[in-house]
Amino acid sequence: MSVTVRVPAKVNVQLAVGAARPDGFHDLANVFLAVSLHDEVTATPAEELRVTCEGPDADQVPLDRTNLAARAAELLAARHGIEPAVHLHIDKAIPVAGGMAGGSADGAGALLACDTLWGLNTPREELLALCAELGSDVPFSLVGAAALGTGRGEHLTPVPAGTFHWVFAVADGGLSTPAVFREFDRLTAGTAVPVPQADPALLAALRSGDAEALAKTLANDLQPAALSLRPQLADTLATGTAAGALAALVSGSGPTTAFLVPDPATAAAVAAALEASGTCRTTRTATSPAPGAAVV
Ligand code: C5P
Repeated sequence: MSVTVRVPAKVNVQLAVGAARPDGFHDLANVFLAVSLHDEVTATPAEELRVTCEGPDADQVPLDRTNLAARAAELLAARHGIEPAVHLHIDKAIPVAGGMAGGSADGAGALLACDTLWGLNTPREELLALCAELGSDVPFSLVGAAALGTGRGEHLTPVPAGTFHWVFAVADGGLSTPAVFREFDRLTAGTAVPVPQADPALLAALRSGDAEALAKTLANDLQPAALSLRPQLADTLATGTAAGALAALVSGSGPTTAFLVPDPATAAAVAAALEASGTCRTTRTATSPAPGAAVV
């Protein structure tokens, strides 16, 4: 018997970042939107914990105990005093180290797959707490749809969202999230960093499904840091807007860039222009919102 869980990627339509806290993390006002790009995690009984991965970027995925899927199985098993005797297979479509919560998706997916395989029926609140232990973005991968994350991003409040169309440009090579936050600290040193707050105009645009209104409010405080570490991303952003995107921004800590488009035809045109430009490795088109982690 095996259990497969499908988990979405995310884009942050607003990522407001506060000053570094004493614990090194940053308080956020983080508006997450799940998009229709998915990883699938399959849990099968095995002698001992083992992770395998397939997909175009599989060679970039660590298969040791640093993999969030492996850590999720260990954490859940330890909580219940059992052995994590499971083979986790990840079918990966979400860009690796791309700022789209691909690792977090695999953590949430493995948690739900193991919980189902082992018949544990862990209450939802407890699953969310385990997700938060695994990483700041992991709870959102479990719930999906659209939500405001506060604290380090792990305290979630669902927000209503209409349908939107997106193009994502996948860069060559990933960016380390801690490195991008460190660059944010360096760039903001000596300035008064405001307390992060969700933008009411952005939440209204999200609710109404009005892409032009949402385009005017998209904001990512990590974008200057990501551009500082990867200046070429400016060319990718400019290429997508010139080809008809309503707005462009770095997804989370990057280096994936996100392009909000009005309709599927414009999505195809923007994706074609990005691929032809040589300013990215590949593109994906997707819609939002997408449901959270679910057994298939
Ligand atoms: O929580 P997670 O393990 O995904 O975070 C990875 C790194 O990103 C943290 O070690 C920290 O450097 C940075 N981070 C942060 N503030 C947050 C979330 C993440 O500084 N709210």
